[in-house]
Amino acid sequence: MAVGITNRRWFILLATAATTMFLVMVIYKPKYYEPIIIENNKIVPMYENVINFSEPRMSKKPLQNWRGLTKNQTHRLSVLGRILFLQEDPPQPAKPDHKYQILVWKYGKTIENRHLKRFGKEEFDPFEDCSVRNCEITYEDAALTTADLVIFHLHRMKKEDLPKKRGPKEQIWAFLTDESPNHTFLNKNNLTNYNGLFNWSMTYRMDSDIPVPYGRTILRQTPLDDTFTINKRKDVLVAILGSNCGGKNKRWDYVKELQKHIAVDVYGGCGTLKCPGHFKTDCPAIDSYLFYLAFENSNCDEYVTEKLWWNAFEKNSIPIVMGATKESYAKLLPPKSYLNIDDYAQPKDLATHIHYLNMTGHYREFFEWKRDFEVLNEHGYFQSKSYHYCRVCEALNYNTKNTKIYQDLSGFWSVSRDCHPAWNA
Ligand SMILES: *[C@@H]1O[C@H](CO)[C@@H](O)[C@H](O)[C@H]1NC(C)=O
Ligand SMILES: *[C@@H]1O[C@H](CO)[C@@H](O)[C@H](O)[C@H]1NC(C)=O
Ligand SMILES: *[C@@H]1O[C@H](CO)[C@@H](O)[C@H](O)[C@H]1NC(C)=O
Ligand SMILES: *[C@@H]1O[C@H](CO)[C@@H](O)[C@H](O)[C@H]1NC(C)=O
Ligand SMILES: *[C@@H]1O[C@H](CO)[C@@H](O)[C@H](O)[C@H]1NC(C)=O
Ligand SMILES: *[C@@H]1O[C@H](CO)[C@@H](O)[C@H](O)[C@H]1NC(C)=O
Repeated sequence: MAVGITNRRWFILLATAATTMFLVMVIYKPKYYEPIIIENNKIVPMYENVINFSEPRMSKKPLQNWRGLTKNQTHRLSVLGRILFLQEDPPQPAKPDHKYQILVWKYGKTIENRHLKRFGKEEFDPFEDCSVRNCEITYEDAALTTADLVIFHLHRMKKEDLPKKRGPKEQIWAFLTDESPNHTFLNKNNLTNYNGLFNWSMTYRMDSDIPVPYGRTILRQTPLDDTFTINKRKDVLVAILGSNCGGKNKRWDYVKELQKHIAVDVYGGCGTLKCPGHFKTDCPAIDSYLFYLAFENSNCDEYVTEKLWWNAFEKNSIPIVMGATKESYAKLLPPKSYLNIDDYAQPKDLATHIHYLNMTGHYREFFEWKRDFEVLNEHGYFQSKSYHYCRVCEALNYNTKNTKIYQDLSGFWSVSRDCHPAWNA
C-alpha cells in the first residue's frame, strides 16, 4: 500500500515535471542553437538567431520625415532628389516622346566596367528597372553638337580634356564624381579650372542635381511581418576587409588599437586572411561576422560607400562606421542600424560595448529597423545594379530646366567644409 502511494507520488511528480518542461519548450522556444561550420579544417562555432517580426515591436514606427531634414536641406534637393530621398512620386515627364541623348565625355569606355558590366563579363541594359527609358548613351565626341546632356568624369579629367566649345544652347553639362572631395581628382588638377562650366552635379550627395549614392535607405510601404535568420560566428565577432592599407584618416591605426581589446579578423591585403577582390568578386567569408568595420578612406559628409551598403548591410552584419559626421549617418541610414566610433571615447570602449551587445543578446535590437526600412545597393559593385545612367535619364525627364550654373564649384564641393580630420587628430 505504502509503496503504491509512493509510486503514484513519483508518477505525478514526473508527469508534472515532464509537462512543465514540454510547456517551457513550446512557449519559450529556445531561439539559439549551434550549427557548426568547418573552415580550413577548423571547427568554427556559429549561432543561428531567428529574428521574428511578427512579435511585438521594440521600437516605435518611424515618422515619414525620419531623416529629419531641415527646411533648407529639403529645399536644396532636386526633383529627382525628392523622389529618391523623400520617396515622392515622379511628376509627368516634360517631354515623354523626346529621345534624350547622353554623351559620356572621353571616359565612357573606362567606366563601362562599373556602369554597364557591374564588374562582370556581361553587358547590362543601363535602363533596366528605370522609371524612364527614353534615353540613349553615346561616347562619340561628335555627339557634342546634338547631346542633351554631357557627363564629365571629374575624377579622371585632365585640364586639356575639356571640349573647345559647347553644343546647343540648352545642352546641360554635368560633372560626375563618385569620390569624396578629399580625392576629387586622380591627376593633378584644380576645381577652380571648372568654375562657370557645369550646370548639374552628379555625386553621392543628396543635394546633387543627379544623386548617385552608393546605396540608399527607403521606408517600406508595408512593414515586414516575417522572420529572418542570421548565422554568425561566436568565436570572432568583428571583421574588416581592406586592400588599401593607407588612408590619411588613420582607419588602420584604429583597427590596431581595437585589436588590443577584441579579436578583429582582417581580410584582404591589409591582413592575414585571404579573400577575393575588390568590386569584382564578393568575399563570402565576411558574411558570418556579427559586426563589420565600415571604415571609409576619408571623413566627408554623406560619403558612405559599399563598405557599409554591401560589406555590412547586404550581409546582415551590424556596421561600425567611421567616416561621415553623425548627422550625415542619421540622414542616410536606418535608425539604430549601426554603431559609430564617434560615440566611444576610445577603441577600448567600443570593444566593451560590442562584447556587451553580444553577451546580452541586445544586438538583436540592431535588426529591428528591417521591419520598416529597406536598404538598396545602387553602384554596380559585386554585380549589383548601377543606376548612374538611369538617374541621368530620370533627371532629364523630371528635373526643372531653369538656368543653373556652378559659378563657384567650391560652394558645392569643398574639402574644408565637407571633410573632417581623422579620429585621433
Ligand atoms: C513568430 O512569432 C509569432 C507571434 O509570436 C508566432 O506566431 C510565430 O510562430 C513565430 N514564428 C517563428 C518562426 O518563430
Ligand atoms: C536657411 O536658408 C535661408 C535662406 O536661404 C538662410 O537665410 C538661413 O540662414 C538658412 N538656415 C540655416 C540653418 O542654414
Ligand atoms: C586652385 O587654384 C586656386 C586659384 O588659382 C588657388 O587659390 C588654390 O590654391 C588652388 N588649389 C590647389 C589645391 O592647388
Ligand atoms: C558571444 O556571445 C555568445 C553567446 O553568449 C558566446 O557564446 C560567445 O563566446 C561570445 N563571443 C565572444 C567572441 O565573446
Ligand atoms: C549651362 O551652363 C552654361 C555655361 O555657364 C550656360 O551658358 C547655360 O545657360 C547653362 N544652361 C542651363 C540649362 O542652365
Ligand atoms: C580630408 O580633408 C580634411 C579637411 O581638410 C583633412 O582633415 C583630412 O586629413 C583629409 N583626409 C584625407 C584622407 O585626405
